[in-house]
Amino acid sequence: MLVHIGRIIHKKMLGKYAVPAFNTSDLEMTQGIVRAAEKQKAPVIIQTSVGALEYAGIEELIGIIKVEARQASVPIALHQDHCHDFVLIKKLINLGYSSIMVDASHLPYKENLKLTKQVVSYAHKQGVWVQAELGRILGNEDWQNVKSGDDLMTDPIQAAEFVADTRIDTLAIAVGSVHGIPVDPRIKKILSTLKEHVDIERVRQIRLKVKIPLVMHGASGVPDNQIRAAIKYGVAVFNIDTDLRVAFNKALRTNIKKNPQIYDPRKLFRPATDALQAMAERKLKLMKTSGHAKRFKNN
Ligand code: G3H
Ligand code: ZN
Repeated sequence: MLVHIGRIIHKKMLGKYAVPAFNTSDLEMTQGIVRAAEKQKAPVIIQTSVGALEYAGIEELIGIIKVEARQASVPIALHQDHCHDFVLIKKLINLGYSSIMVDASHLPYKENLKLTKQVVSYAHKQGVWVQAELGRILGNEDWQNVKSGDDLMTDPIQAAEFVADTRIDTLAIAVGSVHGIPVDPRIKKILSTLKEHVDIERVRQIRLKVKIPLVMHGASGVPDNQIRAAIKYGVAVFNIDTDLRVAFNKALRTNIKKNPQIYDPRKLFRPATDALQAMAERKLKLMKTSGHAKRFKNN
């Protein structure tokens, strides 16, 4: 069932379990995610990136997700990932997203604050949640002006001010996790200055000051024990894309290598979708999301 994100992300879950926000860009990824959620009786967030919407087509991708979600017996919320285009944000809200991430973290603090406030004011009137980001989550396109590990991180005091000023619903924190698999030597150098993949003590400090649910981006590749520790300190959502893609990709390549005679995309994609589903199920078990869909009724 397609539900508002507020039905699956709430204060009662904080410290106990989390819900993964899985990225999708197509039918296969969406089906793998939904099947995993069904099998694990788990709520799940399905999110789109701007790139995924461009790849598949806005209406096309949203159509696939909505149909799959509505047919599912588990609650599924639709969220837009990193976006700083207010026009697109308005369009997606009209198309039924219950949550939007306005990502202006690349801008100076005051500009981030201004754009975030504008989006909150618009979105809240429609009952839509807003996520914003403070700090820098490194990735292929977002490494500029970062010289050391500390430059990446969310400052707990600033985070508390930002949340109070903007009235956002969830906060994306930068605590050392990285988008994708780091290949850029500049990113690798910065990461080498960090003691651990994720600065759990910083998560704890942010939690002491910020009471809304926290979101960890770049959660692929974060060691299991750090995911568990982050949940303990109030991370309610983990964004996962790369681990799903890698699982799909590996299985697809193996299948093509083993069966060079197959030319039907359906036969090529089937084991890849199954591998993606297995990875999504692994994350649902790790985050203790499994079983939390049981109390939901479709209304
Ligand atoms: O916003 C999307 C994510 O933060 C996913 O990051 O590809 O490293 O899992 P990931
Ligand atoms: Zn992200």
